Amino acid sequence: MNRIVTLDEFITHRQKDFPYASGELTGLLHDIGLAAKIVNREVNKAGLVNILGKAGTDNASGDEVQKLDIYANEKLLESLRNSGECCGVASEEMEDFFPIQSVEGKQSNYVVICDPLDGSSNIDVNVSLGTIFGIYRRKSHPGGICELEDFLQKGSELVAAGYVLYGTSTLLVFTTGKGVNGFTLDPSIGEFCLSHPNIRIAERGSQYSINQGYYKRFDEKVKRFIDHYSNARMSLRYIGSMVADVHRILLKGGIFLYPGTEDRPEGKLRLLYECNPLGYLMEQAGGKAIHCTTLEPVTAIQPTALHQRVSIAIGSKGMVEEFEQFMKS
Ligand code: AHG
Ligand code: MN
Ligand code: MN
Repeated sequence: MNRIVTLDEFITHRQKDFPYASGELTGLLHDIGLAAKIVNREVNKAGLVNILGKAGTDNASGDEVQKLDIYANEKLLESLRNSGECCGVASEEMEDFFPIQSVEGKQSNYVVICDPLDGSSNIDVNVSLGTIFGIYRRKSHPGGICELEDFLQKGSELVAAGYVLYGTSTLLVFTTGKGVNGFTLDPSIGEFCLSHPNIRIAERGSQYSINQGYYKRFDEKVKRFIDHYSNARMSLRYIGSMVADVHRILLKGGIFLYPGTEDRPEGKLRLLYECNPLGYLMEQAGGKAIHCTTLEPVTAIQPTALHQRVSIAIGSKGMVEEFEQFMKS
């Protein structure tokens, strides 16, 4: 049996990979792992404590907020604020970014963007959901309060990105720009242990993932692509949690699409804390992630607002390029 490699051991060992390793990035990844364990504990017993259901408010994107969304956001903020290893956080659950005002926080070189709980609609029905995060080096001067420009950076500028999947087991999958590695939480020791070293996505797969319910509202070229795949007897898998759908595609090959529709030309998914972190990670695993109409890499899009939406086609390179061909035809 292979030796257990814990997340902390892995990060510490890889610290020399980071060009400007100051221990802060190592500490940040540890903090995110800690917050994930805390959120996991609540997700696993959500039915037993009064944490299910709606919070009775909407977030900046106009989505109805679940109690667990707020809980997950608070735990991530707490973990990141206490450590002093980042100077600010932008989150789906907060209208504006959150500057960390402590002396250590202001001295930090990093900011974090996150979707604390992705797939919230699945909470009450016990279906997989996740947390998505990304880490940037700040552009503003250390010592001062972080600024909006620290968060509005292209996905290609990310120094780390990843997700936690609260599923049949709890997985933390991330990249620091040197490939993608997955860690499974071993509840008996409370540690994330290396379980999926150096994940690479297949050039093609036999599954596609899209909300077929919107078929009538898609662009004609998108419809032709979907028809092509259903005629080619591909399987359609769609969980309604981007993290779960993209994780399945990362491991099995395939393509996930959230195109625009007549009523929502830019689709639903947010560039900053859903498409960029997952797009950057997918590229690191040998896959591709593009905008469904401009066909540019999502990680090349210059963000202009914290909660801006973009359409996305993400997954196996061969399948994303096939989609591109349909959109150019
Ligand atoms: P969130 O729960 O963070 O708001 O994200 C939900 C997103 C994404 O996870 C999923 O792929 C998509 O919403 C599903 O949207 P539809 O219900 O429109 O298919
Ligand atoms: Mn989400
Ligand atoms: Mn969310």
